[in-house]
Amino acid sequence: MIEGSKMTKATDRLHYGMIGGGPGAFIGDVHRTAIRIDDKATLVSGVFSRDQKVSVSFGTSLGIEKDRLYGSFEEMAQRESERPDGIDFVVIVTPNASHHAAAKVFLSHGIHVVCDKPLTLEYHEAKELAELTERKRLLFGVTYTYTGYPAVKQIAHLIASGEIGHIRFINAEYAQEWLATRSEKENRQASWRTDPAFSGKSNCVGDIGSHVENMVATMTGLRISSLSARLDKFVEGRQLDDNASIMVEYEGGAKGLYWTSQVAIGYDNGLRVRIFGSKGTIEWFQERPDHFTVMKLGEPARTWSRGRDAFSDEAQRFSRLPSGHPEGVFEAFANIYRSYIETLLALRSGKKVDMGKLGFPTVQEGAEGVRFINACVESSENSGAWVSL
Ligand SMILES: NC(=O)c1ccc[n+]([C@@H]2O[C@H](COP(=O)([O-])OP(=O)(O)OC[C@H]3O[C@@H](n4cnc5c(N)ncnc54)[C@H](O)[C@@H]3O)[C@@H](O)[C@H]2O)c1
Repeated sequence: MIEGSKMTKATDRLHYGMIGGGPGAFIGDVHRTAIRIDDKATLVSGVFSRDQKVSVSFGTSLGIEKDRLYGSFEEMAQRESERPDGIDFVVIVTPNASHHAAAKVFLSHGIHVVCDKPLTLEYHEAKELAELTERKRLLFGVTYTYTGYPAVKQIAHLIASGEIGHIRFINAEYAQEWLATRSEKENRQASWRTDPAFSGKSNCVGDIGSHVENMVATMTGLRISSLSARLDKFVEGRQLDDNASIMVEYEGGAKGLYWTSQVAIGYDNGLRVRIFGSKGTIEWFQERPDHFTVMKLGEPARTWSRGRDAFSDEAQRFSRLPSGHPEGVFEAFANIYRSYIETLLALRSGKKVDMGKLGFPTVQEGAEGVRFINACVESSENSGAWVSL
């Protein structure tokens, strides 16, 4: 069915700053583009690179005033917090190792934060950010991109409504080929991801396994109680894992099997989740994000399609285009920002917000992700021993 857009444009605006996302960076520009989709926040400040000259020249090209382009994130947090028109929130899109320090300094100065995953390198750092967020009564979003898809919200709704009964087993994988050779020598994104100084203890589990952990938690609400992992380094000379096999057990008795790989030749961005319940199965694949399949014993499989089939109000609210007009990563990111910015605007205007029901991944989920990554590394270092979370 073809209908006009139901999206509304805000009259009220927020102002934000960015750390990272300079020339040639990957995800910073995706964040900026996604925020522009609903057009409720303007980029007014930033540190886009560790090199101040590069940062100022890049920031100026984005239309930012020179006096709001700073030499470091510490200086930016201080100076922005002193301005009457200082930023409402900051977006952190640097390599993993600086997330904790950057997020901490903005929270300490009373500025709301959005940070990309993995939230931090260490679990105690993530917990510290969670505590600081709560103490300062701030809003912290973590951009687990793919949770923004309407189909993912609909799957979570169906599972919570009992559509496939109680969950028995989950099989989830994230397969990519981009590190099948030693591309860290020439590719900047590969270079820091495979360097423990910037990436942390894990490359593959940290980079994409974290999406698997969060996606399964988002769809099912299940919490991992223990896991056994084997992390592999298939490419010679590589410092960190490029493939991992992970067995998990969830609270309540369900079991799961995750596989993440960056050496899976033929696969681009293959995040796939299959959830097996006592009454049926749900399957979703990130490269076809508008659709998912529900299978029941003795019945033909049914494919749900965003825009065509009736989604729950909460999922439907995030559908932007008529059926057959594919939505993708930009829209998923925009949906996370839509929830985050709507919540900030509501808080700012003194409206009551149910903090237990925010429509975006929070600092607690970011912390769960870090706990998962570190447990995988610990297990693998101990020959796959089961680790409790
Ligand atoms: N949510 C997702 O789907 C997704 C996708 C890609 C990357 N990410 C995450 O986003 C982050 C960035 O990844 P990327 O691929 O864009 O990296 P990138 O290397 O492409 O970009 C990093 C940028 O940060 C800048 N930078 C580094 N240190 C800085 C500092 N101290 N101050 C200011 N700028 C600094 C670099 O100059 C560069 O512009 C990582 O944590 C990554 O895991 C998330």
